[in-house]
Amino acid sequence: MTRPRVFITRKIPSVAAELLSSQAEVEVWPGALPPDRSTLLSKVADADGLLSLLTEKIDAELLDVGKRLRVVSNMAVGVNNIDIAAATARGIAIGNTPGVLTESTADLTVALLLAVARRVVESHLDAQRGLWKTWEPLGYLGLDLLGKTVGIVGLGRIGTAIAKRLHHGWEMKILYASRTPRPDAERELKGVRVSFDELLTQSDFVIAMTDLNPSTQYVFDRSAFRKMKRSAVFINSARGPLHRQEDLIAALEAGEIFGAGLDVTDPEPPPPDDPIYRTPRLVLTPHIASATIETRNRMAEMAARNILAGLSGEPLPFSINPDVVPRKTLQ
Ligand code: DGY
Repeated sequence: MTRPRVFITRKIPSVAAELLSSQAEVEVWPGALPPDRSTLLSKVADADGLLSLLTEKIDAELLDVGKRLRVVSNMAVGVNNIDIAAATARGIAIGNTPGVLTESTADLTVALLLAVARRVVESHLDAQRGLWKTWEPLGYLGLDLLGKTVGIVGLGRIGTAIAKRLHHGWEMKILYASRTPRPDAERELKGVRVSFDELLTQSDFVIAMTDLNPSTQYVFDRSAFRKMKRSAVFINSARGPLHRQEDLIAALEAGEIFGAGLDVTDPEPPPPDDPIYRTPRLVLTPHIASATIETRNRMAEMAARNILAGLSGEPLPFSINPDVVPRKTLQ
């Protein structure tokens, strides 16, 4: 009896391969960088299950090449790298890893906010370069956090975890913009639902924490940055194309906002000569919000469990298209 084949597109915490290899032949892409497109397609051609990352474009072409493919499990909560409609049309189940990265992503978002507001990276680099000559009464002046107003665009699981930290930690007033009201956040965090424009004009800190889709792409453009306070800090740790990057750079260079913290960019990574690396008052981290040992282990395990369920012809524990129950591949 032949065992199903699973391709994992990068080295991930070993728990995934351990779980999967009890039931399937597992191949892990050994490279530090993702497989190139033609390699990926050739691997998918033989696979019953694909454990992918947000670096892989899972589109109709790839799904057609994967004639045996039953399940694709993305080791991420975001699935904007996957054409869900195309997968559903082909009866391929898609899974993701929600929930387990909420707290680590909220922590990193707050870390960026603090780093920008208190100019941590800039002063650290100056100290390393030997520029610390004296205690400077006017050096590295940043922003207080206590009692300020934070506006969060997208108050889902992660947005709420950020709001809790800022409300309970720094007594911040919470504004949020969201398609749906969040009565829990209104009750527990005194959150106030406002329009996008009100959020921009009233917030001291503006945080992008919404899904990337055609209606949210580039919502943070030059006109949005111009509506913000000149003392505002913008943070994006969700998806790069929520902001229009050249507009953000221009706004920072023109001093239209105080600063920005990005864990995500557009494109990702930016090319080596991208002006983002030289933009003032900008703290940049390379998409590390979920990068804690504990979180990445949990993500890998969830992603593997999705694959196992899919190969067994069972509903995925964390499914994006639950109407698709894949045909059983495991005997
Ligand atoms: C996700 O899961 O979508 C994050 O961006 C990476 O962990």
